[in-house]
Amino acid sequence: MDKFVQRVEDNVFTDSMLEEVHANHLLWLRNTSRQEKIRCQRDTQTIFIRTAKKPVPVEVESSDVRASNWTRMSKQFPVLSQWAEEFAVRVGGDLGRVFLVRLKPKGRVYKHVDQGSYYECRDRYHLLLQCDGESQLVCGDTSCRVAAGEVWWLNNSVAYEETNTGSDWRIHVIIDVLPTPRRPRPDSEWKHFQYIRNVDTAEMLVDLKQQGESAWGENTRRQRSIRVQRETSSIPLRSSLSSRPPGVRNNDMHPSESTSLAVHFPAIYGWASEFARETGGDLARLSIVRLNPFSQVYPHIDEGEYYRARDRYHLVLQSKGGSEMICGDERVVFRERELWWFDNKAIHEARNNTDEGRVHVIFDVQPHQRSGELWMGLGDRANYQ
Ligand SMILES: [Fe+2]
Repeated sequence: MDKFVQRVEDNVFTDSMLEEVHANHLLWLRNTSRQEKIRCQRDTQTIFIRTAKKPVPVEVESSDVRASNWTRMSKQFPVLSQWAEEFAVRVGGDLGRVFLVRLKPKGRVYKHVDQGSYYECRDRYHLLLQCDGESQLVCGDTSCRVAAGEVWWLNNSVAYEETNTGSDWRIHVIIDVLPTPRRPRPDSEWKHFQYIRNVDTAEMLVDLKQQGESAWGENTRRQRSIRVQRETSSIPLRSSLSSRPPGVRNNDMHPSESTSLAVHFPAIYGWASEFARETGGDLARLSIVRLNPFSQVYPHIDEGEYYRARDRYHLVLQSKGGSEMICGDERVVFRERELWWFDNKAIHEARNNTDEGRVHVIFDVQPHQRSGELWMGLGDRANYQ
C-alpha cells in the first residue's frame, strides 16, 4: 500500500457531473480568490461546492475551521453533491470541503503542502472528471497518472504537484473526508462495547502505588471543567497540544503530546503506545481516571471532532466489584485487567457502587489513515471470544 497515493475507486460515472459543469461554466470566474491568493494554484480556477462554515471570525484562519457547509453554488451541482455525500459514507467518514477545480491546458499545480489545522486529520481525495492529455500527480516520491472516472487518495501532508499535458482544461473534484471509525466488530455481542482481551497490569499497579495519592492532585482540570466528571479525579499522561489555534475548541483539537506526569507511569504509557501500534493506529489522549466510591460519571456523549476520528478504550486497573458501564441501551460490567473498546459517541455513563475508588486507564487511538481494516485482524491475535 503506497503511503502517498492510492486509487480507491474507478469507473465513476462522470457524464452527469460534467453536464452540470458545462451548464454552469460561468461560475468558474465567480470567485477567483484561490488562484489569486495561493501562488501554487495560479493555473487553476475553482467552483466552491462545500467550504468552511461562515462566518469565520476575524481572528480565525479559514484553514483552522473544522465545520463546513454547502455553498449557494452547490445547488447547481446536485449530482456531484450527492456523489460526494455518498462517497464519504462509502469510505467511512464525515464529508468536509468539496471543490471543483480546473487546471489550464499545459498548466500545473505547483509543488506544495496543504497547511492548516483543518487538514490534520482529514483524508483528501481527487476525482478526475476530464483530461484530454495526461493528468499526472506526484506526491512524496510517488508519481501516478490519473484517468477520468478514477478517485485517488493523496497524502497532502507531504509536498505534491499536478500537471495537465492536455490541450484543454483538466477538471477534477477535490473531496475531504474526516475518517470516523466504525466499531465494534460485526460479531461483537454488543452494539456499543467490545471486549478485547485481558492484560497483565501488575507493573502498572506498582507505578500507581509508588506515585501515591499526591499524583491525583497534580492536575484537576478534568473534574473542575467537565461537569459530568465532577466525581472523578485523573492523572493525564497524554493530552491535547497546549498551543491551540484561535477558534479551535479542545474537543476539536487533534494533536496531542505527553504530559510531565507520563515519565512516572512507564508501564502504562509503554503498554498503551504498543497497543496503539498493534492496532495500526496512533495513540492520542491517555489518562488514568479514578471514579470515587459510591459515585458516577453522569450521562453524556463525548462530542467533537477529536472523538469522531478516534476509538476509545478502557483498561480496568482497580475495580473491587466491577465497573458498571452503560452505553446506549446496553449495560456491561468491566472487570479488573480487562481491556474494552466502547462507543463514546453514544450516550454513556459509569457507576461505582462500592466503597473503593475504581481506576481505569482511558485512552484514544486514531486508526491510521485508510487503514481501519487492519483493526479487523486484531481480535484473532487477541483471542477474541
Ligand atoms: Fe465520556
